[in-house]
Amino acid sequence: MTQESNVESKQTSEASRAARTAQPGSLLSISDLEYDEIAGILTMASELEAEEPLVRAKRLAKRKVALLFYESSTRTRTSFELAAKSLGADTALISSLSSSIEKGESLKDTGVALAALGAECIILRHLYSGAPYLLQRATGLPVLNAGDGMHEHPSQALLDLRTILKAVDRSRRRIDGKTLEGVTVTIAGDIFHSRVARSNALLLSRLGTRVILCGPPLLLPETAASLGPGIFIERDFDRALEQSQVVMMLRIQKERLAGAQIDLEQYIDRYQLHQERLRAHAPQAVVLHPGPVIRGLEITSEAADGPQSAITEQVRNAVPIRMALVCRALNARAGHHDHGGAEAGTTGARDERTAPRKRTGAAARKGGKGGRH
Ligand code: CP
Repeated sequence: MTQESNVESKQTSEASRAARTAQPGSLLSISDLEYDEIAGILTMASELEAEEPLVRAKRLAKRKVALLFYESSTRTRTSFELAAKSLGADTALISSLSSSIEKGESLKDTGVALAALGAECIILRHLYSGAPYLLQRATGLPVLNAGDGMHEHPSQALLDLRTILKAVDRSRRRIDGKTLEGVTVTIAGDIFHSRVARSNALLLSRLGTRVILCGPPLLLPETAASLGPGIFIERDFDRALEQSQVVMMLRIQKERLAGAQIDLEQYIDRYQLHQERLRAHAPQAVVLHPGPVIRGLEITSEAADGPQSAITEQVRNAVPIRMALVCRALNARAGHHDHGGAEAGTTGARDERTAPRKRTGAAARKGGKGGRH
């Protein structure tokens, strides 16, 4: 066995172990997903996106999805909600500032109450790493991790992957350890506090990407390179840019700095992405940012809105990817009741009630006439 296949089989068995302990349909860590599941989610996202909206709205008609948010969010919360609604599901939003959480109710009791109220899936954003695991155990429901502390943001990594595959023209490639071979992605900024950086580095490196992490030691400890094979640290931003087809900028997470002081002037000088830097060192690179963007700090408006930016495209990819994840979660839930579809939630196989079908014959013609809404 080669060293490469050894690494791959180790990754696969780790992913299998995680998947076995997860509730079917859950997504807690990006490492829970096998290659075929990643491919299934990407395919399902495209199929759902292309589907006639009125047909799509029957997929999860009257199913119940709870969005439980302990931290603020614009993109993740809105896109999960729109995704669930466009599949016909009923959604309930529970935020820490307008619920009994404010009175001191625990995550466990909140989750159990939501399950008793009929929630079939919970989408959780929490300030503590690992909170989605506790919620899953307490409720027995599929949980979608919408960002937990400094740990992971797996759905963000999937929508970033969709954006990157399109940007580097690899969308039609099979999903495996070679999908992004030959592509270098630099993730720059506050890596240490970033769940987006972790999920992206784990996912992209498994697909063969060379991942460069770039930032000052305070925001990027040397140990970050041990996240996986193919992950490197480069402190010189210009040198990182020169090697990259994609550059993903991250904001400094002031809310997690815990008193650490950063010389912002020096940071901007060394790590800000601006047009001159892009022109000089990466004139062809695609610029990404998961948001929220702090203009004038990690990136200038010119670079964020410039011709190399795919930031808006990145946000647009959120709804299709999250439709696929909500579908997958509730597919698994349907299987939970009839003992027939649980596997569908974890393997990407189809459940006739919720999986998108290709429109053929009369149905396609009918949809075609009506057009997309
Ligand atoms: N990318 C991201 O998680 O953005 P929000 O915090 O706005 O959801």
